[in-house]
Amino acid sequence: MSGKARGADPARTIRDFGAAGDDGAKGHYEDPAYYTKTYKDRRHDVDYYVRLARQSKGPVLEYGVGNGRIALHVARAGVEVFGVDLSRPMLDDFQARLALEPKQVRARVALAEGDMREYRLGKRVPLVYAPFNCFLHLYTRPDVEAFLARVRAHLAPGGRFVFDFSVPHGEDLSRDPERTYGSPKIRHPSTGELVKYAERFEYDRLRQLLLIWMEFEPEAGGKPWKVPLTHRQFFPREVEALLHYNGFADIFFTADFTDLPADQWVDSMVVSCGVAPAARRRSPIVRRRAAPPAKKRA
Ligand SMILES: C[S@@+](CC[C@H](N)C(=O)[O-])C[C@H]1O[C@@H](n2cnc3c(N)ncnc32)[C@H](O)[C@@H]1O
Repeated sequence: MSGKARGADPARTIRDFGAAGDDGAKGHYEDPAYYTKTYKDRRHDVDYYVRLARQSKGPVLEYGVGNGRIALHVARAGVEVFGVDLSRPMLDDFQARLALEPKQVRARVALAEGDMREYRLGKRVPLVYAPFNCFLHLYTRPDVEAFLARVRAHLAPGGRFVFDFSVPHGEDLSRDPERTYGSPKIRHPSTGELVKYAERFEYDRLRQLLLIWMEFEPEAGGKPWKVPLTHRQFFPREVEALLHYNGFADIFFTADFTDLPADQWVDSMVVSCGVAPAARRRSPIVRRRAAPPAKKRA
């Protein structure tokens, strides 16, 4: 595990977070072994995105590809996948996992370290997706706008942009920031130690930022450490407006990877949209050369 994650300053509060690429966007991804163990049973979204990727026939672009929890299965299903991510440790872990795959699977994956607000693939694809709350690492309106401009530029005509996000729940946002919520002890996959694990939540109502502190305390009495994870909270109608005003149309919301409409108890929503025709004309992948000056008429 990285010393950076272990050394996170416990005195920091939500006010110290909220910039794309800061520790709240990176800390949780410094330790891919822990990430893999934590989400090993999360399969429903993998199956969902693999189905979409197959239907699109590819190639596909995954933002926040991480250590390939989804992309590896997309490649195994025969679809070419481009993955971009900010986290070097996650990408290195994905490369290590890929090295164990057959040659044909390895050949279908291309990875790049980059920021989803800036990265340029240089081609358009029929499916762009940003799974598992990747969108919640966009903390401000300019972050969202920069990202959506990149998505538009990468979508082929008729292509779809699909992402999922946890729907804010009042009770999560009104927790006492001093209170810790404990879970059963775990055997930490990176250190082998038995550790007590708890979470603490701080919410900034003005910036709509939720900071989750993941707190680890070795049972044998070693030094405790904590890892921050910051998620921007987007309300569903806000997401719809952001997409609408940033050149997307044909916007559908469904519930928890079921393709069914959401109800009041939904945990996460899947959003699928396409580029609005007017916005497509404004999103050339390569800037067109200026038209030659009109010939002078006699
Ligand atoms: C919850 S993980 C999802 C990883 C993988 N797609 C999955 O489903 O397991 C979110 C990913 O977004 C990446 N990320 C956060 N901010 C980013 C940014 N500004 N640009 C690119 N990737 C970013 C993180 O490094 C992390 O790997």
